[in-house]
Amino acid sequence: MNKKTIRDLPEGELRGKRVLVRVDFNVPLDENRNITDDTRIVESLPTIRYLVERGARVILVSHLGRPKGKPKDELRMDPIAKRLEELLGRKVTKVNDCIGEEVKRAVAQLKDGDVLLLENIRFYPEEEANDENFARALAELADIYVNDAFGAAHRAHASTAGVAKFLPAYAGFLMEKELEALGEKLNNPIRPFLAILGGAKVSSKIGVLRKLLEKVDVLLVGGGMSYTFIKAMGYEVGKSLLEEGMIEEARQILEVAQARGVRFELPLDFVVAPEGKEGIATRVVDWDKIPPDMGGFDIGPKTVEKFGEYIKEAKTIFWNGPLGLFEVNLFARGTIEIAKKVAEAAESGAIVVVGGGDTVAAIKQAGVERKITHISTGGGASLEFVEGRPLPGVEVLLDK
Ligand code: 3PG
Repeated sequence: MNKKTIRDLPEGELRGKRVLVRVDFNVPLDENRNITDDTRIVESLPTIRYLVERGARVILVSHLGRPKGKPKDELRMDPIAKRLEELLGRKVTKVNDCIGEEVKRAVAQLKDGDVLLLENIRFYPEEEANDENFARALAELADIYVNDAFGAAHRAHASTAGVAKFLPAYAGFLMEKELEALGEKLNNPIRPFLAILGGAKVSSKIGVLRKLLEKVDVLLVGGGMSYTFIKAMGYEVGKSLLEEGMIEEARQILEVAQARGVRFELPLDFVVAPEGKEGIATRVVDWDKIPPDMGGFDIGPKTVEKFGEYIKEAKTIFWNGPLGLFEVNLFARGTIEIAKKVAEAAESGAIVVVGGGDTVAAIKQAGVERKITHISTGGGASLEFVEGRPLPGVEVLLDK
C-alpha cells in the first residue's frame, strides 16, 4: 500500500490530538431504526481503538442513507452512537450537528481518549457538493484527518476527499485492509483466478467485466445479467430480465473473452417461473429452452455443479452479485449453494474476496462468513476499485 496509515504516525504523536475520522456507518436500519447489520461499525473498531488507546480525541463522521442535503429525523446517527458505545465499551458522545458552535464546544470538552460522533454529514448539501468552505469548517475541528470509510471512498465529497486539503490525511486500518484485499490480492493473484459476477444488469458491471477479463482465467456469469449474454448469442430468454441496449456490448465482451483465452461460463440451466415471487410454480429448463411465457430467476442444479467444479480448482476467487433473484427465498438457492462452495474453496486454501451488499447477505445467509478470506464493506466502492478507477477518498491521502 502506497498511502500512509495511522501506523505511520510516530508513537506519542496522537496524544491530545483531535483526530477527525471519516467512517462509513451507513448501516441498514429497520422501520424501528434498529440496526440490522452492524458489520461496518464492527469493522471500524480497530482504528477507533488504536486512536483511543494512544490518547487521541476522536471525532467520528459518517453519512447515513441519502437525506439529500436536508435533516431527516429517521436518518440521525443516534442508534449508531448507541451501538458503537456498546461495541467499544466506552462512552460515545453524539452531537446534533457536524459543524458550528455546538460542535466546537463538544470538541473543546473532549479529553484524551474520548470519542465524539457528529450528526449525519449528508444533512448538509455542501457534503456531496464537496464545498470547500464546508470542508474547511470540518477540518477546523481537528489536527489530523483519517479516512477509514472504504465504502464511501468512491465519492468525492467534503468529508471523504475535500477535507484532506486542510489536514494531514492518513488511511485507517479498515481502509488499508480493503485496499490490500481488493488490490494486491486480486492484482497479483495466485492462479487459477476465477471471478463470479452476478446481479441484475450488464450496464452496471460493464467496467468491472472488461477489467476482469484482463486478469482472470475463468469468469462465471449468472443472475439477471446472464440473459443479455444469452440473447447476444442468438437465443430467446422469454420474460427474463433483458437489457436490449447492452446486447451489442455483451457480444463484444464474449469476443474479448474468447480472444484472451478466458473461460467465460454462462449458466447451463435456469429455474423459470411466470413471475419472480414467492409461492409460484417453478421448473428447471436448459439455458437455451426458456419458454416465451416464463422468465429465469435462479441458476439450476447443473449450473451449480458446473460452477462448483471451477470453484474447486480456483486459488483466487472474486465474487460480486447474486446469481438469481436472491431476495425472494424461492430463488435464493443457487446463490446460497455457490456461497457454500466458495467457502469450501476458502477452507481448502483459496483466497476468496467478496463484495457487494447482496452477495455479502448471501454469504451470511449461508452461514459461511467466517470462512471467507475478505468480505468487503464496500458495494460501489469495491467495484470501482477492482475496475481500476482511482478512488477520490484514497487519492487524497498522504503518500508513503
Ligand atoms: C454504500 O452503502 O455503498 C456507501 O455507504 C456509499 O453510499 P452511497 O451510495 O449513498 O454514496
